[in-house]
Formats: sequence, C-alpha cells, structure tokens
Amino acid sequence: MKNSLCKKNYKITTRNWFNRWSNKYDQTLGRIGFHRELLDLVVRSSKVKDCDKVLDIGCGTGLLSLRLLQKAGCSITGIDISEEMLAIFKGKIKESGLEQKIESRLMDIDSLNFKNNTFDAAVSSVVLHHLKDKPKALKKIYKLLKPGGLFVIGEVDMDSTGSHADTKRLQRMLRVLEQEWIPALRDAGVEAFAQMYSNGIKHILNQGEYCLSLKQWAAICRKAGFSRVTIKRVPHYKCFGVVVAKKPG
Ligand SMILES: C[S@@+](CC[C@H](N)C(=O)[O-])C[C@H]1O[C@@H](n2cnc3c(N)ncnc32)[C@H](O)[C@@H]1O
Repeated sequence: MKNSLCKKNYKITTRNWFNRWSNKYDQTLGRIGFHRELLDLVVRSSKVKDCDKVLDIGCGTGLLSLRLLQKAGCSITGIDISEEMLAIFKGKIKESGLEQKIESRLMDIDSLNFKNNTFDAAVSSVVLHHLKDKPKALKKIYKLLKPGGLFVIGEVDMDSTGSHADTKRLQRMLRVLEQEWIPALRDAGVEAFAQMYSNGIKHILNQGEYCLSLKQWAAICRKAGFSRVTIKRVPHYKCFGVVVAKKPG
C-alpha cells in the first residue's frame, strides 16, 4: 500500500510489522491454541448461513475467512492493510479454487469503502486493537451491516490504557501476556514465543497495539448503536473472547 493511502505513522508501522511477519504468521500465531479457539468462537458466534455476505476485517492470511467457509457457503470480502499478508491469502484462495467465494482487498479499516447495509455479518479477530479511534470504526461497521446483522469482535481481554509508568497497569497486562507467551512456546516453539514476546512489548508500550478489555469493547459497541451486546469467552483461555453485537432491525 502506498504511504499516501496509509496516512498515519502508527499505521505504517503496523503495516510494516505485518508485512515482515507474514511469511511466518501461520507457523507462529496460527499454531497457538488460543488463536485457533478464538477463530472457532468467532465463527460459532457469527451464526453465518449459506448465501450470507460477510466482511472479514483485517483478514490477514485468511485463517478466519477459511474457517468461516468450512461452516457455511457464504461469500466473504476480506480487507487488510498489509500487502504481504494479503498476498499469502490470495495464494490460498487461488490454490483452493475459492475465487467465487472470497474477495480480498487492500483497504484501511478507517477508510472502509462499501455501500451502507451491504453485509449480513462482520467479523474480526485480533485486529481492531490496532486502531486508535475505535468508536469511529465501529460506527462505520454498524452502517455497513444490514438491519439485524451481527458484528463479532474477537480480542484479547486486556485493558492497556493508562500511563506506561504505572506499575499496576504493567502487572495487569503481564497477567494476560503470560497467558499468550506460555502457550506460544508450548504449541508453536521458540520462534512463536519470540514473536509473541516482541508483540507483548509493543502492547506494553502502546506501539501500534492499543488493547481494551472486552467490557470496554462492549461499551463502544453500545455507543455505536448496536443492541444485544454480549461477551463470550474462549473455552480454555479465559483472557480471550468475543463481543457479539447486533444491529437492530
Ligand atoms: C494479528 S493479525 C490478524 C489476522 C487474522 N484476522 C487472524 O486472526 O489470523 C492483524 C491483521 O490486522 C491488519 N490490520 C491492522 N491494522 C489495520 C487497518 N488499519 N486496516 C486494515 N487492516 C489492518 C494487519 O495487517 C494484520 O493482517
């Protein structure tokens, strides 16, 4: 993506981070138990049906989209800011002959370019915490959904707000991060641990990572107009979960 399309510095950093990670993404985060369980929970919670039109926000290498298609014969539009993550996804789409089912586009979440009332469901997994202005994005996603449409946000339940010098904040975050680091080493080895460790430092320093608690996400959904907002947790990793929000109608 040209830097002109990616106007904010922190987004260029995020895009470059994922461009560099892309080749190892599926072998690192993609192999860790909590990520697989989170994807499964997003898929189950989306209640996607055959013929639904689904928006996968921050689709990356397509791990969520491909899991959705195992559940239903929906059609999916995946958008992402990283060309390299998308290149891997496009390769998988071609290899599996899914061109009729999935379209992937280079797009920033802050410039979602679709008509209002287009999608039956919108899903995202471990993406939206990369945004600084979350209310703006959620209001836009609300508009893109058809009345009655579901929005499922898969995220880590970690409130990273506050001062970097606050030791209580650091303790709160480390309690969550160790639940990423230990499974990373166990499930996917040293390289995955090193990747998740570097990621953790970015979370602590808020360098392109601005996580919230699931309750905080739920409050932003309600403010954006969503009704029936619920939180569900991943079975074996309680610090991961989804917020399910419905557009009235
Ligand atoms: C941790 S990956 C998650 C990918 C996929 N959803 C999954 O669960 O495997 C986060 C993805 O969000 C994308 N991303 C981050 N900020 C974005 C933005 N502003 N607009 C679009 N995509 C963004 C990154 O490029 C990356 O592919």
